[in-house]
Amino acid sequence: MRRNGGKYECEQKQQEARIPIWKILLETYRGGDVLILPEKNRKELDVLLSSGVQPRSVYTVDKSPAVIATFTRTLSAPERDGIHRRGALVSVACTTWAKEGVQLEAAHFDLCGNVQGYRDGSVRQELENIARCGIIDNARIAVTVEKGREKSKLIERFDRIALLAAALNNGLRGRSTVKVITSRTYQNGPSPMLWVAFQLGGKL
Ligand SMILES: C[S@@+](CC[C@H](N)C(=O)[O-])C[C@H]1O[C@@H](n2cnc3c(N)ncnc32)[C@H](O)[C@@H]1O
Repeated sequence: MRRNGGKYECEQKQQEARIPIWKILLETYRGGDVLILPEKNRKELDVLLSSGVQPRSVYTVDKSPAVIATFTRTLSAPERDGIHRRGALVSVACTTWAKEGVQLEAAHFDLCGNVQGYRDGSVRQELENIARCGIIDNARIAVTVEKGREKSKLIERFDRIALLAAALNNGLRGRSTVKVITSRTYQNGPSPMLWVAFQLGGKL
C-alpha cells in the first residue's frame, strides 16, 4: 500500500467514498447548487460533472487558499468561469453565500477531522455554523470524518453519527429536521474513515 496520496488510496477513496456519496446525494437532484472541498486531482469535481452537474452550480471551498489555487490550475477556462471558489473556513464561505441567496441542494463536507473537538474550525463546530446560516436547510449532505483518532476509545459509529446530527440540529434551531440516510466506513490508507449521508428538510 502506498502512503497518503498514493494511487491505491486515491482509487479506494474514489470507489468507497466519492462515487457512492454522490450517487446518494444526487438521487433527488433537481439541478441546484452543490458544494465540495476540492483537491488537486479534481476527482470529486469530475464525479459531479460526469453526473450532469453544471460548473456554474458548483461551489468549492478550502481554508487553505493554496489548495484552491492548485485546484484552479486544473480547470478549463469555462470551468474557471463557472465554478465558485473561496479560500476560507467552510462555515465562513457558506455564510457569505447564504447572504447572497445561495441554497445548496447537496454538499459533501470532507473536513478530515474527528468528531471529538468542538472548537473553531472543528468538524462539529463547522457543521453547526453551516447549518445556522440557512444554506443547507433543505439539502442532502454527506459528512466525512476520521474515526479512531479520538482520545476516548468509547466512541462508536452510532455515537459519531449522533454527535454529527446533534451539531446540525444545534445550527438548524428547529427550522428543519435531520434524517440519516446511510453511513459507511472505509480505509483511506492508514486512516479509518466514516462518511454519513443526511437529508435535511421539513418539520417533524
Ligand atoms: C480530505 S481533504 C478534502 C479532499 C477532497 N474532498 C477529496 O475528495 O479528496 C480536507 C480538506 O479540508 C480542509 N479543511 C479542513 N477543515 C476545514 C474547514 N473547517 N474549512 C475549510 N476547509 C477545511 C483542509 O485544508 C483539507 O484540504
